[in-house]
Amino acid sequence: MSNQKQQVVADKQKATGDQNSRTTNLSPTNQMFQLIWPGAMAAQIVYVAAKLRLADLITQEPKTESDLAQATKTHSPSLGRFLRALVGLGIFTQDEKGRFHHTPLSETLRSEPVRAWAVMLGAPFIWRPWGELYEAIVTGRPAFERIFGSNLFDHLAAHPDDSSIFDAAMSSHSVMTSTILAAYDFSRFDRIVDVGGGRGELLLGILSAYPKLQGVLYDLPTVVAGAAAAATGPVASRCEVVGGDFFKKVPEGADAYVLKQIIHSWNDEDASRILKNCRGAIRNDGTLLIMGDVLRQSGKPDPNGGLMDMMMLVLSPGKERTEEEYRALLERAGFSMPRVIPTPGPSIIESRPA
Ligand SMILES: C[S@@+](CC[C@H](N)C(=O)[O-])C[C@H]1O[C@@H](n2cnc3c(N)ncnc32)[C@H](O)[C@@H]1O
Repeated sequence: MSNQKQQVVADKQKATGDQNSRTTNLSPTNQMFQLIWPGAMAAQIVYVAAKLRLADLITQEPKTESDLAQATKTHSPSLGRFLRALVGLGIFTQDEKGRFHHTPLSETLRSEPVRAWAVMLGAPFIWRPWGELYEAIVTGRPAFERIFGSNLFDHLAAHPDDSSIFDAAMSSHSVMTSTILAAYDFSRFDRIVDVGGGRGELLLGILSAYPKLQGVLYDLPTVVAGAAAAATGPVASRCEVVGGDFFKKVPEGADAYVLKQIIHSWNDEDASRILKNCRGAIRNDGTLLIMGDVLRQSGKPDPNGGLMDMMMLVLSPGKERTEEEYRALLERAGFSMPRVIPTPGPSIIESRPA
C-alpha cells in the first residue's frame, strides 16, 4: 500500500463519531477531499431529501423503500439507492426489515430553519449559479444574471415558486431574531421600519418583545403579499405592511430603520441609493441599523464571511463588506458610523444621521 493510501486508511479509521474531530484529525489531503467530495453532493442530497419531505414521512412510523416511493411518487429502485446514500451520511438508519428510522441529523429536516435552507440552497435558482462561480470570477458578472437574464429579485418577482422558497428560508431564522433581540435594546424607539423585511420575521419578533413599539414592514409588493402573520397575527395592530421599491422611496418619519441582509446584495452605487432613501426618510434623531456580516481581514480561517461573499458573487451584483467599506458607504449617504455590535449571528452596524 502506498504511503498516501495508508494515510487515507488511517484517516478513515480516525474518522469516527464527532464531526469536528473528523475534520480536524484528517491530513490536509483528506480535509481537502472532505471539501470537494461529500461537500457539494451532500448539499444536493439533503436538498432532495427535504424537497421529498422524507423526514416528515418517516416521523409517524418507520417506512420501507417502497412505502416511501409510493408516498413520494418516485422511482423505487432509485429512491432505494438515494436512501442508502442518506444512511451513509448519517441521515436515517435502516433496520434488518429494511425500514428507515430517524437519526438526530434527519430529525433536523422536520423543522425550520434547516428544512427551508436545505430546500433553498439546493434549488436550481441558487444551485445553477454556483456551478458558474468560475465564470463569475473571470468576468466579474453575477452568474445569476448570465443564467436567468435578470437580477435575483426581478426573477423572484416573476417566479412565485422560487420566491416562496426564498422567502420561506429568509423568514425561518427565529434563532437569528433571538440573537438580535439579545444583543440590541430597541426600547428607546417609537416606530421602526424594516426595509426589505421579507415576510416580517424579525420585525414581528421585535414588536412582540417591545409592546409599545409601532412597526412598518416594507418590501416588494409580491413579498409583503405573503406576510400573513404581519397582516393578521398578534401584533398586526401595531404593524403596517407596505409594498414598495426601496430604490424609489422608503416609508418616512420613523426613528429606527433596519436593513437586515440587504446592503450586501447590491453594488456600491445601488447600496448608496438605498441608504440615501433611508437618510431622506429617517427622523434627524433616528438610528439606522444595518444587520449582516462584517468581513474581517484577519487572514485566519473564517469560512462563514467568505462563503456568504461568494454567495453574493454568484447571485447578485453585491458583496460582503469590511467595517471601513460600510463606513465609506454610510458617510456618502449622510450617516455617521459610531459602532459595530458583534453578535453570535449577524453584526449590527448602528449609525445616525450625520
Ligand atoms: C436577502 S433578503 C432579506 C430579507 C430579510 N431582511 C431577512 O433578513 O430575512 C432581501 C430582501 O430585500 C427585498 N428587496 C429586494 N429588492 C427590493 C426593492 N427594490 N424594494 C424593496 N425590497 C426589496 C427582497 O424581497 C428580500 O425580502
